[in-house]
Amino acid sequence: MPIFIKNEAEIKKIRIASTIAADVLEMIEKYIKPGISTEKLDTICSNYILYKKNAISACLGYLGFPKSTCISVNDVVCHGIPNNKKLLKNGDIVNIDVAIIKNKWYSDTSKMYFVGKPTILGERLCKITQEALYLALKKIKPGICTSIIGKTIQNYVEKNNFSVVRNYCGHGIGKNFHEDPQILHYFSQKKGIILKPGMVFTVEPMINAGNHLTRIMKDKWTVKTKDRSLSAQYEHTVLVTKTGCEILTLRKEEKINSQLIN
Ligand code: MF3
Ligand code: CO
Ligand code: CO
Repeated sequence: MPIFIKNEAEIKKIRIASTIAADVLEMIEKYIKPGISTEKLDTICSNYILYKKNAISACLGYLGFPKSTCISVNDVVCHGIPNNKKLLKNGDIVNIDVAIIKNKWYSDTSKMYFVGKPTILGERLCKITQEALYLALKKIKPGICTSIIGKTIQNYVEKNNFSVVRNYCGHGIGKNFHEDPQILHYFSQKKGIILKPGMVFTVEPMINAGNHLTRIMKDKWTVKTKDRSLSAQYEHTVLVTKTGCEILTLRKEEKINSQLIN
């Protein structure tokens, strides 16, 4: 697939989808409490997306995925399937990943939540993961190679004695949920591509407290750390601008500008 450069009208539509996705992550915060099931959280998100925002979940039915959100708890790296038997408990770390289709255009974002009081390790893992994402976003501008993103994330994460998951990466997004370019979150010899204004893609590092290896469960979706260590992820959809990038899925709570001049 080619890498699509989005025009102003297209960017406007991705921006609308992105705001909805960010709103979902803000809306669900107050429900994250010990005892609630991940299925209940999914139902609340699903109703909000459909009836409050008149939008569609990009996850529901995607390659057969059965729910509207991915909810990944503790050692689940990504693609956790919301389930009525999975109840949150004090100290859990939880990722909710929301992808939206609005007027045929896509957005994709995720963040970590603490259930009750976090453990020292859980809190540190989430903090380092979000900082790694922000450091990478602060490098994005026309003319740089995508490989800088992975290098920046891996450097920072390994300095902090955590590891970067290799098996899943960020992706171009727009008229498709996943399109080129691939955004690796670690350094690889693979040649990346040079960024240009109008490119839109996600950066979504998955960071493990133990080693980087993962395995897929029998449900064919749930990805866990192989060593059962904790895993965290933050994801934003970003637009490459003339001078840097714009975080399209920024939430109010975040202490970073949406427009990064890099
Ligand atoms: N939202 C995920 C991503 O960041 C993809 C989830 S696909 C699903 O790319 F089918 F599991 F929903
Ligand atoms: Co994504
Ligand atoms: Co996502």
